Amino acid sequence: MPKGRRKQQVDSFDFQPGRMIAGKYEVLSLLGSGWEGEVYRVLESNTGVERAAKIFFPQRNRYDRATKFYARKLHKLRHCTILIQYHTQERITFHREPTTVLISEYVEGELLSEFVKRQPGKHLTPFEGLHLLHALATGVEDIHRAREYHGDLHDDNIIVRRRGLSFDVKVVDMYNWGTPDARNIRDDVCDLIRIFYDAIGGARFYSKQAKEIRGICCGLKRSIITRKFRTAGNLRQHLENMAWAH
Ligand SMILES: Nc1ncnc2c1ncn2[C@@H]1O[C@H](COP(=O)(O)OP(=O)(O)O)[C@@H](O)[C@H]1O
Ligand SMILES: [Mg+2]
Repeated sequence: MPKGRRKQQVDSFDFQPGRMIAGKYEVLSLLGSGWEGEVYRVLESNTGVERAAKIFFPQRNRYDRATKFYARKLHKLRHCTILIQYHTQERITFHREPTTVLISEYVEGELLSEFVKRQPGKHLTPFEGLHLLHALATGVEDIHRAREYHGDLHDDNIIVRRRGLSFDVKVVDMYNWGTPDARNIRDDVCDLIRIFYDAIGGARFYSKQAKEIRGICCGLKRSIITRKFRTAGNLRQHLENMAWAH
């Protein structure tokens, strides 16, 4: 390509409300952005159904590797209710670059990171934290049972809603290029415990937490956590059966 006409790396799409994607989806709002691309809430004009459209930065999706992987994985795990449902893909051209858009279920709710920041003292009570951890462990257990793992569990990839005593949770944005093995599964378990630890106030409150809570966090020591909880299912069972000393 002649000098001066080199393709620029796309690091923002900045689609405005009202813009159409592939002639089928009307942009309603930006939901979030991250390393791989930008996610918009869109309206499928044919049906009036709201969906999420993730537009991948082409340099993060060479040969459609990321979108193919993500679509196949979501399809394989379509019975895991903690994951979003994959719908379809569209190809658009953005700044002369072919660009892939992944259309999936739109999840209403709030990012866990924002939800926690909104709480008094910017943390959950230990009991709320346990409910959150239980919901997450139950959902991730389905993934582990299918011999898969998530690979990128953190509070910006979790969307929550309160539901009675419990939490209704969804996780987005899987990142698991590796072959599923016991180590990846254990990483998910360690990530879940880290999320719990941070949500209930992290290091600030840790030494004052009840023994049962510290017994779950294990001081965030990977070797201890993985000996205690080999899968998300083990963690869920522990939460359901643990005895309280007081
Ligand atoms: N299906 C969805 N429904 C609602 N919000 C979503 C959905 N998918 C992603 N988001 C929002 O968009 C943000 C970025 O999406 P994500 O898939 O995590 O992309 P990245 O790989 O770039 O981090 C998320 O943190 C979340 O706020
Ligand atoms: Mg993300």
